[in-house]
Amino acid sequence: MVLIQFNIQSPLFTEPGSLSSKYHSSMEKKIFQDKWALVTGASAGIGVALARELAASGAKLILTARRSDRLEALASELRAKGSEVRTVIADLNDPSAPEAIFNATADLEVDILINNAGLGQYGPANEARLDQELSQVRVNCEAMVHLTRLFLPAMVKRGQGWVLIVSSVASYQPLPYFATYAATKVFDRFYAAAVAEEVSRSGVKVTALCPGSTESEFFDISRAGELSGSKRQSAEEVARLGVKALAKGKRIIIPNFSGKMIAVLTWLVPTRIVTLFVERGARPKK
Ligand SMILES: NC(=O)c1ccc[n+]([C@@H]2O[C@H](COP(=O)([O-])OP(=O)(O)OC[C@H]3O[C@@H](n4cnc5c(N)ncnc54)[C@H](OP(=O)(O)O)[C@@H]3O)[C@@H](O)[C@H]2O)c1
Repeated sequence: MVLIQFNIQSPLFTEPGSLSSKYHSSMEKKIFQDKWALVTGASAGIGVALARELAASGAKLILTARRSDRLEALASELRAKGSEVRTVIADLNDPSAPEAIFNATADLEVDILINNAGLGQYGPANEARLDQELSQVRVNCEAMVHLTRLFLPAMVKRGQGWVLIVSSVASYQPLPYFATYAATKVFDRFYAAAVAEEVSRSGVKVTALCPGSTESEFFDISRAGELSGSKRQSAEEVARLGVKALAKGKRIIIPNFSGKMIAVLTWLVPTRIVTLFVERGARPKK
């Protein structure tokens, strides 16, 4: 989700099917085969794609979100392909939900934690729906920290584990009219980078995935329809590159070229200039 878009797709960064992608998919199978992976936000968009990608790598899945019909449909699909799958219905707005998810999986060794659930809200900060503002902080930040705090100790103890935290290219710049969302995503990216360093000697890998505009329900839920003109990357490609980066133990993955450009530009251009232009470009029409 970005407001400055270059819409450049480069084969250098999208890594199409090739000898190297075949090598990596066998590498992912070697690493993730028969390991339990917990995916939050597995009922839509990037979460569904991440769950499918991990299942294709041989992982066993715990799928969680609020919409049980969606989770059961995905679980049936993955079971039909031979995967072992468990579903846990939970609303991450509820501060006790991470503990409930942890307890529901206490009999399993969860080696892979995918903190993907998230939402945004587009519009002026002084008019924004308060429940959705606070929900972004709870789901995108609080629940992510809570789940990581619950699942990480066993990973560190076992000397093995993989944590993926879905941040965003939005984390590279303050975003007028997406103020809370961008702030939650920089929280996610910084948390991932710091914890990755802390646990690096234990064998646990922490990766921040920073997608740009991606096909999902995100823009409907954030009511950002009027910004939806830009080209979007498929959730499948984002998930494929995210899982590959996780398997390699990369600290950060920006899965497309325009996102990488934004990360560089926002490093070079003063924040005040960025916010000035973004405010003009993103200002709601009515
Ligand atoms: N799409 C983009 O352009 C884009 C770009 C950068 C980063 N991202 C990030 O990617 C992640 C996935 O988003 P998406 O694009 O796939 O959006 P999406 O299609 O709207 O999916 C969001 C997922 O989060 C779950 N979720 C939302 N609120 C929840 C709650 N209170 N409790 C439990 N689960 C909740 C939803 O499940 P239920 O509604 O069933 O609970 C759904 O599975 C988010 O962290 C988002 O910030 C998206």
